[in-house]
Amino acid sequence: MYIDHEIAVLGLNTTRRILWKGGRVDVEQVSSIYEHFGQLGGKQIKIVVTHHPFDLPKGFKDTHLVGRSSMAMENFAKCGVDLFLAGHLHVTHAGNTERYEIAGYSALVIQAGTATSTRGRGELNSFNVLRIEEPEISVETHTWQQERQTFVPSQPKHFRRSSHGWRAI
Ligand SMILES: [Fe+2]
Repeated sequence: MYIDHEIAVLGLNTTRRILWKGGRVDVEQVSSIYEHFGQLGGKQIKIVVTHHPFDLPKGFKDTHLVGRSSMAMENFAKCGVDLFLAGHLHVTHAGNTERYEIAGYSALVIQAGTATSTRGRGELNSFNVLRIEEPEISVETHTWQQERQTFVPSQPKHFRRSSHGWRAI
C-alpha cells in the first residue's frame, strides 16, 4: 500500500501457482481493501494494481478476466475504487467497469502493453503515463518507434469524474 495526499495505491496478488494463466482474487484479499482504503481520510484517488485484468480489450473472451472479478468488483465499488491497473495480456487498453453493471459506479481500467520484453502479442512495445489531477485523469501511451529508436507519446485519453463515476471526455 502506498498513500500520499493525492493517491492511495493497493497491490493485490492475483497470480496462483495452479492458475498461472487466469489468476484469481480471494475473499480475504477483498476484505483487506476495506482495511486499507477505509483508513483514508482525504480525497485520494484509490488505485488497485493487479497482474490480471478486470476489463478486456476487444476480441478477448471473458475467461481472460481475473477469477471472482464480479465478487471483487461489488466490494471495490463500495470502497469507491477509482482506477484499476493491470498487465498480463500484453495488450494496451483503456476501459472501464461497466461490464459489471453496478448502478452509479464506473471506474477506469487501464491495461499496460509490453514495455521492454520481446514477449508481445503483435503490438509494438509501449508503456502508459497516467496524469492525475482531480477531477481528471489522462492516459498517454508511449509506443516504441524502431526508426527513431525511442518511445513516442500518443494523444492522451482524458477521463473525468462525474456523479456516475469516471467517464471519457
Ligand atoms: Fe501474466
